[in-house]
Amino acid sequence: MSKPGEKSELDRALALDIVRVTEATAVAAANWLGRGDEASADKAAASAMHREIARLPFEGVVVVGEGEEGDCPAFYMGEVIGEGSPSGAKLDLAVDPIEGATLCAKALPNAMSVLVVAERDSLLKVPPIYMEKIAIGPGYPEGLVDLDATPHENLKALAGAKGVSVEDLTVCVLDRPRHGQLIEDIRSAGAALRLIGDGDIAGVMHVTEPLQTDIDIYLGVGGAPEGVLAAAALACLGGQMQGRLVAFNAEDRAWAKLAGIGDLKRKYTLQDMVSGDLSFAATGITDGSLTAGVHHDKKTVTTSSVVMRASTRTRRWIKTEHADRRKFGA
Ligand code: FBP
Repeated sequence: MSKPGEKSELDRALALDIVRVTEATAVAAANWLGRGDEASADKAAASAMHREIARLPFEGVVVVGEGEEGDCPAFYMGEVIGEGSPSGAKLDLAVDPIEGATLCAKALPNAMSVLVVAERDSLLKVPPIYMEKIAIGPGYPEGLVDLDATPHENLKALAGAKGVSVEDLTVCVLDRPRHGQLIEDIRSAGAALRLIGDGDIAGVMHVTEPLQTDIDIYLGVGGAPEGVLAAAALACLGGQMQGRLVAFNAEDRAWAKLAGIGDLKRKYTLQDMVSGDLSFAATGITDGSLTAGVHHDKKTVTTSSVVMRASTRTRRWIKTEHADRRKFGA
């Protein structure tokens, strides 16, 4: 399996292919923007993403998807998608047709469509349960922060390495009741909080550009699939991340068992979550901090995306004007 900087089995041309997928998915989702109907938005987006991936010249296996076979209409774990071909690549897929379905239903910023294609067997297979996450940007000593340290210890270590005081740090956290204690601990340590309503893939990515985002560290519990997708983004952007699955109830434990997770206490490093070359694409559904959203005029649809690759650390921002709205059914 190739590591950053090494020759990869992943076809460079795939970058454009996967952006086409997230573009079509974002446009399908945007047709449901502000309609208060998360389920229909999700269904439209998943079906567009599925249709577009099915056309691509590889054999992709869904490793991070929407559920188990029979449980969800598309993207069950283990589903094989893609046109394939004798010489075509065999890849892992991690999908999130709408990251922030509530944001899309309420037409709020930061909803996006995300797809990761990776070398086969290089992505951690996670069930749709939760994950405890910690992430910081590039340029710090390895292991500077740790899931097993207290928020205060992590903030002190980060502030020391950055040469600032804890009061100068900003922590990004999902605004959820389960984070009551964490929020209190961060406040009592003296750091500032950026509480986000949804969308912790972007939350994690923001730690890599503290000068633009003012976010130094991501902490808290969010979706496990989003954890692996965020790790994939950091593999392209640099930075450190750890994750640990969280099973809140028996159903979650059953999901974990189905996914073959034997040790729920295991702490995963970024390299445990993404161990080979990959390409990451995201297209904005609504305007956001990473990209603009989908915009329509009478004849055209405009999408904005970012596509990145781990082995080369290339980042491309792609603004596309789709001349024929009808091809999206818009
Ligand atoms: P969805 O689009 O699947 O709803 O995910 C949005 C999100 O905010 C993720 O970014 C985050 O990881 C997860 O929800 C957190 O879950 P919950 O809303 O249950 O706290």
